Amino acid sequence: MSRIVFLNGSFLPLEEAKVPFMDRGFLFGDGVYEGIGVLDGRLIDNEAHLERLERSLSEVRIPNPYTRAEWTSLQGEIVRRNGMQEGFIYFQVTRGVAERDFFFPENAKPTVAMFTQAKAIVHAPAAEKGIAVVTVPDLRWERRDIKSISLLAQVLAKQAAKEAGAQEAWLVDEGFVTEGGSSSAFIVTPTGSIVVRPLSHAILPGITRKSLLRLSKEGGIALEERRFTVEEAYEAAEAFLTSASNFVLPVVSIDGRPVADGKPGPITRKLRELYLQMASAPALAAE
Ligand SMILES: Cc1ncc(COP(=O)(O)O)c(C=O)c1O
Repeated sequence: MSRIVFLNGSFLPLEEAKVPFMDRGFLFGDGVYEGIGVLDGRLIDNEAHLERLERSLSEVRIPNPYTRAEWTSLQGEIVRRNGMQEGFIYFQVTRGVAERDFFFPENAKPTVAMFTQAKAIVHAPAAEKGIAVVTVPDLRWERRDIKSISLLAQVLAKQAAKEAGAQEAWLVDEGFVTEGGSSSAFIVTPTGSIVVRPLSHAILPGITRKSLLRLSKEGGIALEERRFTVEEAYEAAEAFLTSASNFVLPVVSIDGRPVADGKPGPITRKLRELYLQMASAPALAAE
């Protein structure tokens, strides 16, 4: 069965989905996006993702083409049409199609594209073994809180990580880790506190990060929302990342140095377990 995608009001086979040459997403990276994890056919933390989408759209002044109820219904439909059980839904909204000119076009209609990617999240080998990260300079713009489709800096950072034998890049600004190329970055101090950078324009407000903070409070795990340096990360007892497509993943090496004994740590394992429980029983999760 061909993958069914959604484009501008229609569900159609991927091969038939065509975006016009003059789309501003293609020419300028002028658009925003969302990515949401799917488990047992259910979207995880969907309300928070839709809220972030609304905020991203409003910050870049692209009109939101759908109500929250309409978005939810389109998402449910694409999951159903693809028989999707576990993986990821991606969708983006661009400013639309117009002759190339920097100024906002007068009458363009936003382009809406949505697709699914099947992926093992719960039984991912990376979750068992942990992953390696390398640090690279954070070359992005100053509004990283907007989930923009302009991802060139992340593409270059993550490719550099891959070429160094790692699976993720940790981005560094003035000696402090901001976040991962496509994930939120956490360390655990030798005294057992989780450390994560506070929200600001410097990082994306990760939805998995938000749930993780709630779960750590409920689980009685100490939490410090503050910046941390690369050196502090090298000395950490544990490290991990969060994202909608991975949930919680242990980081076992940073710049080729093992984190503690180079194995996923107990606090990371516990948080992954708590997150999986929440994702498997969403009705019980507090919002
Ligand atoms: C730069 C960046 N930070 C953090 C995240 C994690 O955010 P979320 O948990 O909402 O997937 C992502 C996800 O794509 C990201 O691109």
